[in-house]
Order: sequence, then structure tokens, then C-alpha cells
Amino acid sequence: MAKLSVEDVPVTNRRVFVRVDFNVPLNTEGNIGDDRRIREALPTIRHLQDREAKIIMASHLGRPKGKADSRYSLAPVARHLGRILGQDVPLAPDCVGPQVEAMVKELKTKELLLLENLRFHPQEEANDPDFCRQLAALCDVYINDAFGAAHRAHASTVGMIPFVSTVACGLLMKKELDYLGRILSKPEHPFRVILGGAKVSDKIGLINHLLDKVDALLIGGAMAYTFLKVKGIQVGISKVESDRLEEAREILARFEKLAIPILLPLDHVIAQSPSPGTSTRIIEGGIPEGYGGFDIGPRSRSLFAEKLQGARTIFWNGPVGVFEVPPFHEGTLAVAQAVASSGAISVVGGGDSVAAITQLGLDDKITHLSTGGGATLEFLEGRELPGVASLPEQPVRSG
Ligand code: 3PG
Repeated sequence: MAKLSVEDVPVTNRRVFVRVDFNVPLNTEGNIGDDRRIREALPTIRHLQDREAKIIMASHLGRPKGKADSRYSLAPVARHLGRILGQDVPLAPDCVGPQVEAMVKELKTKELLLLENLRFHPQEEANDPDFCRQLAALCDVYINDAFGAAHRAHASTVGMIPFVSTVACGLLMKKELDYLGRILSKPEHPFRVILGGAKVSDKIGLINHLLDKVDALLIGGAMAYTFLKVKGIQVGISKVESDRLEEAREILARFEKLAIPILLPLDHVIAQSPSPGTSTRIIEGGIPEGYGGFDIGPRSRSLFAEKLQGARTIFWNGPVGVFEVPPFHEGTLAVAQAVASSGAISVVGGGDSVAAITQLGLDDKITHLSTGGGATLEFLEGRELPGVASLPEQPVRSG
């Protein structure tokens, strides 16, 4: 069932509260690293401006633990959004209270107001009813465009909804639900999934849920070493989740029973530690003591690329090496290249995987770059996301 969207509800001349996920990386100077989440909110903003709405935007940034903390202010985001839109985007001093109410009252159509970080109040994460009412009183229409925060049942993502008469999803939320939903409901086959990143534990739910849908699973990154260890291959000092060996063994057995291949790295870029400038070697098979595998090697890159070539649908989440430390980023870049040139319907999620695509300038070769981290994984695990479940469905049209 499709959700009611911002395109389906009247917004002209109304105060529209848009919950966005502007939880973007900030560097030490307070500048925005990757602004994808901001740019992806633009279609909803433009839609509202074209229809002469008064736009109130709200987001969290980081985890300020319920206290106002200037390190987590949305001020850099307001400036950045203002630059992109070519118009002033004032930042309210808070997200509730008389000053904010006065600023909202002054809003004219097409104007934007960004509220200060919702998580400066502990009531946001506690989903406090009074706080929900205060947020709801600011608006006539509530739009949730924060797919990245949809796995959180907070005041601004769930709790305020019953207090607003008009509720719908934004265009980014709609796009995410559409592409990710298609991955789960009707992927074109062959469907290949590449998983990487540090922990098997983060991906177990996803692997189990995709088991009856995928045609092959490719595993890289540190999580591969837990599987390799189960297979009796020497992994040296590579990161292994000792408390997940049993689950990894079960996954391997289940895939084997269904004759679905799991491809693990055949060779590795090894070093004594994953530090910049360290000396590295390529090794096939087992990894000697004192060394760890920190990226997939050239044979594995070719094997993965070959497997991705014949795919009709690809989902990729997680780097296959220590992406942030060159030279251990090469494997992840090779995977990015292979996904982009596969010609498959491709959905990529997770910070490093998306960063690899962007670094190579391949954004437009990917069908959908998801803005969600945890939310994307939970969605693909088949879990109900509170921020999605609380949004109304489109009415069933008869005839
Ligand atoms: C994210 O970056 O995954 C979302 O913005 C949610 O942030 P959180 O994990 O701090 O709730």
C-alpha cells in the first residue's frame, strides 16, 4: 500500500511542518562533509514552495543527550540550505516555545524556517506527549520526509502525528519506500547482495530476511573474517566476532542447503595494522599470525565484479575494506565501479558505500542511493519502522 504523500494534501497558505533528517557529518570547523541528506530534501521543499506553503523544517543532529549544545546546532545546515536555495533560511533559537511560535506566525508563503535541533530536549527521544502537542501546535500540516530517522519512535517522527489533522509523507520518504520496497517485494533476478562493514551482528537480520530472495550473497569487509574462521581458514589478527561464530555457521549452512552461493574473499590486503602508510601485502588463502586482512585483494575484486555483471538487481551495504584509510579503500572503490557498470537496478545504502560511489562520480549510474543508515537495514530486515507505520495510507480507489 502506498502512503499518502505531500502531493495528495492541500498545503497552500498553510503552515507545513516537515520532519527531515539533516543529521549530516560535520568536520572540526563545523562545515558539512556530505550534504546528500540536505539535497535530497529539496524536491519536497520545492514542491511546497511552488504551492505557496509556509515551511517549518525540523531535524535532529547527532546525539546531544537532551541538552542544548552548540556543537550540535543546526546553524551550519541553515546556512548551507540557504546557499543551495539562494534564499535566507533563518534558524529558530529552539524548536518549541514562545520565540519559535512568534517566528512561525511571521512566516510568509514560500519562506522557510529551520527549527533548532529537536534533541536539545530530552522529550524528543522520550516521545513526551506535551512536547508532541507543542510541536503540533506550530503547524496545520505534518510531512515526514526523514526516512533516515524512521526507525526511531520519537516525538517528531511519531508522537506528534495524532495532534495534526493533515499528515502525509514527503517525496524523499516516498522514493525510499518505493525503491527499498521493490527490493523486498519483487526484485528482478538474478538478485545479488553485497554486504561489508565491521560486524556480522549488524547484518544477521538482513541476511536472514533476504535468504529466500537472493541468488548470491557477496561478503567483504571485517565481517567476512567471522565467516572465514568458521570455514577453518586462518585469519591472523583480523577482526572476528567470536560470539557470532555459531550464527555465521548457521547462515553458511542455510545458504548451502538452498544452494545459494555465498562468496567470501579469496585474497586479502594484509598489514600489521590498518594505519595510513603502513606496508601491505596481498595474500591468498590463510592470513599469517601478526597480520590482519583490511581489504579484499585483486582476485576477490575480479570475482565480485564478474558476479555482479550478470545481475538484474543489486543491493550493496557496507565497505569491503577499511575505506577511510588508504590504501585499504581500493576494494570498496572496485565494488562501486562494478555495481555502477552492471546495468542492474542498483540500490546502495550506508555511508562508506555511498561515499565510494560519489568519490568516483558514479552517482547517476546507481538507481537509488539510500539516505538511511540503520533505517535502511531495519526496513530490509522486514521490520516495521515506526516513522513509516504511523503515516496514513492512500485511500483505496474503488472501480
Ligand atoms: C542516522 O543517521 O542513521 C539517523 O539520522 C538516525 O540517527 P540516530 O542513530 O542518532 O538516531
